Amino acid sequence: MIRSAGIILFTVGAVSAAFAQGAAKQAVASAAKPDLTVGRQHFEQSCGVCHTKPLITSGRFGPALSKESLGGQADVMAEVIGNGVPLRMPGFKHQLNNDQIRAVVAYIQTLDPPPPEAAKPTARTSGERRDDN
Ligand code: HEC
Repeated sequence: MIRSAGIILFTVGAVSAAFAQGAAKQAVASAAKPDLTVGRQHFEQSCGVCHTKPLITSGRFGPALSKESLGGQADVMAEVIGNGVPLRMPGFKHQLNNDQIRAVVAYIQTLDPPPPEAAKPTARTSGERRDDN
């Protein structure tokens, strides 16, 4: 009994040490360059509702995003994501830290632009719209 408890303790210790190592490696990696997997996860969770069109029949509130959005300028994108667009898009600086925003920007910069017609928002609201199509 005592021996098996020891084995369990050892196992738990080994697993948490491995986990800590993994976390440390991840921290180093995120300082070096943005993690596209993390960026994609945040994008799908926080942005997809307005910026993607999951079904052919669904509308899209915001424009499709790609490497060409905002001229592909990472700084400008990060600024829009952090502060949002008045009345149109919430800012994310309180939900996402700088590394996470950088990861989302890096992920968006892997996306090819859709054909021009498909890029436009399709859902209309009573508010004003920026693009004059
Ligand atoms: C509530 C809906 C909504 C959510 C959620 C949202 N956005 Fe937006 N976003 C918009 C709208 C609408 C616009 C267009 C604003 C305008 O008319 O200038 C926009 C514009 C942008 C732009 C500028 C695009 C361009 O070409 O002008 C970027 C970049 C962007 N959003 C990124 C994001 C990211 C990244 C997230 C998630 C972290 C996000 N947005 C979440 C609605 C949203």
